[in-house]
Amino acid sequence: MDESIFISKNFIPKEGRVVCESPSNIALIKYWGKYGLQFPINPSLSFTLSNCKTKTSLEYSPRLEGQGRFDFLYDGKIKKTFENKIEEFFERISPFCPYLENLFLKINSKNTFPHSSGIASSASAFCSLAFCIVSIEKRYSERMTEQFFFNKVSFIARLGSGSGSRSVSGPLMIWGENEFHSGSSNYFAVNYRHKIHQIFKNYQNTVLIIDDRIKISSSSDGHKKMTKHPFINDRKNQAKNNLKIILDAISMGDLQVFIKVVEEEAMTLHSLMMSSQPPTVLIKSKTLEVIELLKNFREKENVPICFTLDAGPNVHLLYPEKYKQEVIRFIKQKLVYYCQNHLFINDNVGLGTKLLDFKLI
Ligand code: DP6
Repeated sequence: MDESIFISKNFIPKEGRVVCESPSNIALIKYWGKYGLQFPINPSLSFTLSNCKTKTSLEYSPRLEGQGRFDFLYDGKIKKTFENKIEEFFERISPFCPYLENLFLKINSKNTFPHSSGIASSASAFCSLAFCIVSIEKRYSERMTEQFFFNKVSFIARLGSGSGSRSVSGPLMIWGENEFHSGSSNYFAVNYRHKIHQIFKNYQNTVLIIDDRIKISSSSDGHKKMTKHPFINDRKNQAKNNLKIILDAISMGDLQVFIKVVEEEAMTLHSLMMSSQPPTVLIKSKTLEVIELLKNFREKENVPICFTLDAGPNVHLLYPEKYKQEVIRFIKQKLVYYCQNHLFINDNVGLGTKLLDFKLI
């Protein structure tokens, strides 16, 4: 594929406001390591979530001479700390969205999950911003198909945050070229089109907030360290094999295999961090204690629950909907004491980003 298909024609939009909402996502096969401009070293697979989301409102108006590109507000207040990252994002996307040069943007974002819960919000934040931007373009491109729109949103979101490319749609998204899913691409994520067994419908994801502090090392640094990692080739092979195995398990409803692969991916992610130079340790002793309790519960009660981790200490529990009550009881009895302020968040798989409003002013 040639990314030039995503270069839009230039135009001067009128003033307007677009609002949308993007969920976070949780990777089953992890994206860890990138090259070039945000290309993944291996394919990844994720469940799109529902409740943990970012709502973004984008007001646009003609840019006056000498005016900056954007103001970024978080929850209605100017937030300077994100400005560099957003500025870099606009640099990256400007060849594909030349019309942005003519505009001043007022971006107002807000998360539905507690602000300092330690849940990574860059995926939902960049996906919602990308969705707003490409929605402006769609108004001026009568022949843009729905499919092209979603591909471009994912492509643009990827340039802000790799995992953000997977939040555009759902319930299962694949990002990264692979032989098991035709149409898969390194440029954007695609919806998994094959059979998903009934047991995975409305799959549950409960996040245990083990530590709500901002992590000491960013995902971007971790990805960079993978380029010189001694295990990089083995990791590429492992991810590819695991993708094949888990896709088969998802179509067959084989929870044993699903659990094995998901947990192996989580542990591999953190092993890769710990064996990077310099090493990074993001899990806490409480993370490991919770995992131990979870395994005991799984064996004793025969509940097909598993854990996964993102780049931090919080534990994501994944389980079929029919076990929800049993799992919540177990969390309240045994796990909540390991959570910061006893905080855990219930979520489930969802269908991706939604347009909430579009007004021309
Ligand atoms: C561990 O998407 O946050 O959550 O592309 O640098 O923004 P950047 O990284 P990011 O990395 C996410 C890594 C992960 C695994 C995953 O979501 O696949």
